[in-house]
Amino acid sequence: MTEISFTLNHQLTTLDVDPTRNLLEVLRDELNLTGVKQGCDLEGECGACTVLLDGEPVRACLTPMGKVAGRRLLTIEGVGQPGNLHPLQTAFTQTGAVQCGYCTPGMILAAKALLDRTLNPTREQIVEALEGNLCRCTGYARIQEAVELAAAQLRGEDWPPADPRPGGGDEIRIDAVAKVTGRARFPGDLIMDGT
Ligand code: FES
Ligand code: FES
Repeated sequence: MTEISFTLNHQLTTLDVDPTRNLLEVLRDELNLTGVKQGCDLEGECGACTVLLDGEPVRACLTPMGKVAGRRLLTIEGVGQPGNLHPLQTAFTQTGAVQCGYCTPGMILAAKALLDRTLNPTREQIVEALEGNLCRCTGYARIQEAVELAAAQLRGEDWPPADPRPGGGDEIRIDAVAKVTGRARFPGDLIMDGT
């Protein structure tokens, strides 16, 4: 075990942990940050576990704890809160980019890394930034639209979604805010006494 200090969601954190253990397990099992999802066999294939390390998207399942030492780590729990959402989180709810929501935290973090670099991304840059993140149910058009909407809002432009539609626009899903903030609990996120 090794003492590892890093900044987690804007707060200095110190853990006594095996430096070879993967970051995904530590975030979910030790720190209860279940907004970080596991969507594949820890092989880096789905992007659901995307977090930002010093502002760059990384796969938490492929990142050993030793690599986190002294660095700045951001998970979906540190991006925005209900009532104080990041524009990306708002845009995902407004465009209907959230269906089951399992891919959503990783998508938002990958998109945030892009918008932190440029507020004028082309559609090609958005596609490239999100190409490692798989979505099994929404499809990608609404997600890309959400990133464009958030970029416009961050540029200070009034650019509402063009057409309200089921799951987006005026009809925001009842659980969308929980899903864009990583607070929604999926069966794998539930911890029962004795398990
Ligand atoms: Fe699938 Fe990490 S869990 S890329
Ligand atoms: Fe279900 Fe993307 S919203 S996997």
